[in-house]
Amino acid sequence: MSQKITVALNEHSYDIQVGDGLLDQAGQLIAPLLNRPRTVVISDENVARHQLPRLEAALNSAAIAFDVIILPAGEGSKSFGHLESLLDQLLALHLERQDTIIAFGGGVIGDLVGFAASIYQRGIGFIQIPTTLLSQVDSSVGGKTGINTPRGKNLVGSFHQPKFVLSDVSTLDSLPRRQLLAGYAEVVKYGLIDDATFFHWLEDHGAEIIAGDRVAQIRAILTSCAAKARVVAQDEKERGARALLNLGHTFGHALEAECGYSDRLLHGEAVAIGTVMAFDLSVRMGLCPAEDAARVRRHFDRLSLPTRISNVNHPVSQAISQAGMTAARLLDHTRHDKKRAQGKVTFVLLSGIGQAFLSNAVSPDDIKDIFQTALD
Ligand code: GLY
Repeated sequence: MSQKITVALNEHSYDIQVGDGLLDQAGQLIAPLLNRPRTVVISDENVARHQLPRLEAALNSAAIAFDVIILPAGEGSKSFGHLESLLDQLLALHLERQDTIIAFGGGVIGDLVGFAASIYQRGIGFIQIPTTLLSQVDSSVGGKTGINTPRGKNLVGSFHQPKFVLSDVSTLDSLPRRQLLAGYAEVVKYGLIDDATFFHWLEDHGAEIIAGDRVAQIRAILTSCAAKARVVAQDEKERGARALLNLGHTFGHALEAECGYSDRLLHGEAVAIGTVMAFDLSVRMGLCPAEDAARVRRHFDRLSLPTRISNVNHPVSQAISQAGMTAARLLDHTRHDKKRAQGKVTFVLLSGIGQAFLSNAVSPDDIKDIFQTALD
């Protein structure tokens, strides 16, 4: 069972194919997109351990020659050092301009490989095979690529669309529950932005997605990707509406920065807390009914998604919440958010579930108070 969605971007249009067991057909699905039957697969240690043999068998069965580059797992690989080393390895493999490489892993691998593809010999093609829920519903789609610098996350990068996205829900089976839940926060995001019906469906079926129900997972991923594809087709370079996809992210990035972008707080966990904060801020500003904010919090609580820093499922995060992290410091992080325009940070606010909008008329005092609530 598999279904396709197209991201409509003229000559850069591409398909997203979602299904159960697709990895085993990856060779046949990818072969027509290659200019010659040769590629390089870039993955990380964890994904390679669990999933690489399946991809290797699929490429072999389609007579596609390949090399494999394995990077350390974790956010640390999104660095200038690893980018340089990856580019050097691609050069050593004599990869040509018409070749296509494969990003096989979660968001870190997709972002790094996409960025390397965008600058290798001024740009080569790449295919995304995302293996986490977060990358299947968000980071593999839309062409944002990049690395982190010591000054912050994703501060260096490019827009470079993949040639194809292949999402196999069976890869989610080996994902730790905490990672699955973190990815689920990005699924809920699409319902909260402009699709209340999807949010209501998630209230009924979210637990099935987390429990590994293939039908529910495929439907959730397709709905999320279709929503993202619509936004990206309208505003590829984030000049306007695409910024709505950052719901919960400005608050979330501040929390991630305080946790050193480490596994103390996963990106999706930060987004979950940040989303609740965006609702709380909207209620505080008199823009959103309190019942809608309570309903979102209830849904996250029911699935054990964190809604405040102290209930992140990591002992160090709980320690951090009691030390060092203050509302004033968190507010300061938002001032450095890269989604600034003319010195002002754009926030995604809500007038209800499924009714998000952009605003840069938020007072620092309100933001600080909302951070305080998330810390209390
Ligand atoms: N993750 C937000 C975006 O791709 O625009």
